[in-house]
Amino acid sequence: MSKITAAITAVGAYLPDFVLSNKVLETMVDTNDEWITSRTGIKERRILKKEGAGTSYLAIKAAENLLERKQIDPKEIDLVIVATATPDLLVASTAVYVASEIGATNAFAYDLQAACSSFLYGMSTASAYIESGRYKKVLLIGADKMSSIIDYTDRTTCIIFGDGAGAALFEPNTEGLGFQDEYLRSDGAGREFLKIEAGGSILPPSVETVENGQHFVHQDGRTVFKFAVSNMADVAEKIMQRNNLSHEDVAWLVPHQANLRIIDATANRMNLPDEKVLKNIHRYGNTTSATLPLLLSDFESQFKKGDNLIFAAFGGGFTWGSVYLKWAYNS
Ligand code: UT7
Repeated sequence: MSKITAAITAVGAYLPDFVLSNKVLETMVDTNDEWITSRTGIKERRILKKEGAGTSYLAIKAAENLLERKQIDPKEIDLVIVATATPDLLVASTAVYVASEIGATNAFAYDLQAACSSFLYGMSTASAYIESGRYKKVLLIGADKMSSIIDYTDRTTCIIFGDGAGAALFEPNTEGLGFQDEYLRSDGAGREFLKIEAGGSILPPSVETVENGQHFVHQDGRTVFKFAVSNMADVAEKIMQRNNLSHEDVAWLVPHQANLRIIDATANRMNLPDEKVLKNIHRYGNTTSATLPLLLSDFESQFKKGDNLIFAAFGGGFTWGSVYLKWAYNS
């Protein structure tokens, strides 16, 4: 019997309609389009304005888009994982609600949180379940409503993040396509540099934490940038080396969309020309868990069966890593 690998067989996406442009941000905080564009590559981002709608709203829409694109019966899904840093509720898994809402009534479900690396780590989890032979259809959704944790008076964070969701279905493959290798890392020393201080078990919510703005995300941008630039490039280079891949063998780099300068530094280290580097940061900003599946959805039509894709991400924690995957279908 040939070895089972875990292939991505369908993708989906959802972005809210409301566009928050750099021009509008100029009217909200002391910033300007030139600064944002040159320092980050971002032009606009999407914001979920719908009253009472949380991350599950985005995740459900992305999953429904995937199911419709490939005409998949949700009852066949075994497991739903929602990769997110902004769950609907602190307790009660977002994924469980999403699974029920999309009609995945035979699935079990749970959330996975690793900040901006959530989807990348989720690819490892989803693939391992498939490779083991235990499950046949694992739906991995990356979704974040970043606007729910952003202080729109803080110019160092509000210009970066946006809302969105993307989804990928993992299924067994016997042609050797799909997930090939991973190199995943983490380092708790990073916790100080990118975090939400209050609302968790260390500092539960109080009038004081709200007044101090401690429920918003804070980052030491310069430090995070420094770690992201070197670590994302390191892991991408490492995964190429240990799979004997030259820059000619790599069809696409699928990098986390946090900053255009970080993406370019990773691509340079891999010696990849710009046309092989997937980017949509100018349109969506940093959507945290959603950046990688949104790229898959946006560029699906350009992928060919057998293409070598290298994924790379870096996020809070710190968490980071790289995944090597062979694309499994022509669309
Ligand atoms: O996805 C999770 C991981 N996160 C990341 O990877 C983010 C990593 N960090 C970054 O992408 C960048 O550090 C930022 C985009 C957040 C900031 O860019 P930077 O080039 O590192 O800027 P900086 O923080 O070093 O600030 C440079 C200057 C400062 O002014 P002074 O001290 O030089 O006078 C800031 O106050 O730019 C100022 N500044 C701004 N000016 C206009 C900071 N934010 C803004 C702004 N508009 N929005």
